[in-house]
Amino acid sequence: MESHRTPLSRLGRFTGLPVEWRRNVNGPTVPRTNGINRDERYMARALQIARRALGRTSPNPMVGAVIVNRGRVVGEGYHRSAGAPHAEVEALRKARERSRGGTLYVTLEPCNHTGRTPPCCDAIIASGLSRVVAAAKDPNPLTNGRGLARLRQAGIEVITGVLERASLRLNEPFRKAITSGMPFVVAKVGQSLDGKIATASGQSRWISSLASRRLAHQWRSRVDAILIGINTVLQDDPLLTVRGAPRRSGRPIKVIVDSRLRTPTTARCLSSRSPAPTLIATTVRSETKRRMLARCGAEVLEFPARQGRVPLRRLCRRLVRRGVQSILVEGGGEVLASALAERIVDRIAFFIAPILIGGRAAPTSFSGSGASHLSRAIRLTDVTYRRLGPDLCVEARVVYPTGARGRRQGARVLQKSRAPRPAPRAPRAGR
Ligand SMILES: NC(=O)c1ccc[n+]([C@@H]2O[C@H](COP(=O)([O-])OP(=O)(O)OC[C@H]3O[C@@H](n4cnc5c(N)ncnc54)[C@H](OP(=O)(O)O)[C@@H]3O)[C@@H](O)[C@H]2O)c1
Ligand SMILES: [Zn+2]
Repeated sequence: MESHRTPLSRLGRFTGLPVEWRRNVNGPTVPRTNGINRDERYMARALQIARRALGRTSPNPMVGAVIVNRGRVVGEGYHRSAGAPHAEVEALRKARERSRGGTLYVTLEPCNHTGRTPPCCDAIIASGLSRVVAAAKDPNPLTNGRGLARLRQAGIEVITGVLERASLRLNEPFRKAITSGMPFVVAKVGQSLDGKIATASGQSRWISSLASRRLAHQWRSRVDAILIGINTVLQDDPLLTVRGAPRRSGRPIKVIVDSRLRTPTTARCLSSRSPAPTLIATTVRSETKRRMLARCGAEVLEFPARQGRVPLRRLCRRLVRRGVQSILVEGGGEVLASALAERIVDRIAFFIAPILIGGRAAPTSFSGSGASHLSRAIRLTDVTYRRLGPDLCVEARVVYPTGARGRRQGARVLQKSRAPRPAPRAPRAGR
């Protein structure tokens, strides 16, 4: 059996969430070139350097750029964070006059609008580059083909679609958010081999191993928001911070779904030890409670109740409008069931520990009534299985049943998952 102390360098191999995000950020400096043409080789390099900013660019995409002149790389750059120079500009600054007559490889169509920085198209045209190879079009309605058209009009040869699929995967959350108004949602469960997320008395620390928890913290460091249910706050009183992984100021935002505003002002996730913003999504209007929570730094977002609870889809849309493109739903079972029933989950990750908890009253990964028939069960695809210390990590994409029947089933699961729950247990001292 592997040691519990899986080194972080190994965890880096599957660093989480969208398929592309599982790749090693600090891979070899020279991509493998066997069997691929020159354009693909340089684009692979551009994709590789784009990944260095994993988890740091939202609401912008990750972008990498390589400038090649007479067979030599003369400049490279990537977009480091929102507000920082775009990848093309970084590469042009490095290449300077050596870009004249050269080729720019860029993982996303160059922008043609002024945002926080001036349009990259202007800089590219001024640099005298003669060829631009772009992996994919920018889905941002402000660009969406206009950048490429502008470059062509300026007499630059433009090629698109080189390693396009890899480019699309790289920015899955950005693309989903910008094209659908919904964030990329990953559900994460730490469970026993028999599918329990806590004992009947509510104890859940720790089911999964240290190696699993370290990886979970890496994932937290890469998403824009973490979402949990109020029962988990009352039962576990989690800090919801990133530990042992790079931190980004103000991220991840903590979101608590709490229909009746039961979040105690003493919750550890509201303390100064947990500095990222906290949003409490509720269905009640209570000015007194709102003010009390505001004094602890939490913001209360009100929603019209959907069967007595916070409507997760509406909440997601509102979060996207605040620049949240990726969410990690960390439970508990009620919230995970609703997230599936409302069809907001894109990927799912199980950390399965070799422990048996048992007990009818012990909560399982997904509450609700479940599928009445196997044909209506939610299928997982694109599944990977990994050993993580003593645990098994199973990651997959969620495929929802199609057609009216499947949608009715989803609604039924949602309804049942909102059946009255036993009275919440008293808050417990934090870890
Ligand atoms: N092993 C793990 O990975 C893990 C992770 C997290 C939690 N846990 C364990 O799970 C247990 C808590 O899980 P739980 O299932 O009882 O509760 P939960 O999912 O943490 O919270 C559920 C509560 O959230 C509120 N809520 C508001 N909007 C909702 C919506 N749309 N859908 C669902 N709930 C919504 C509801 O209370 P109101 O009606 O009052 O709003 C609901 O009862 C604890 O024992 C904890 O230790 C384990
Ligand atoms: Zn740009």
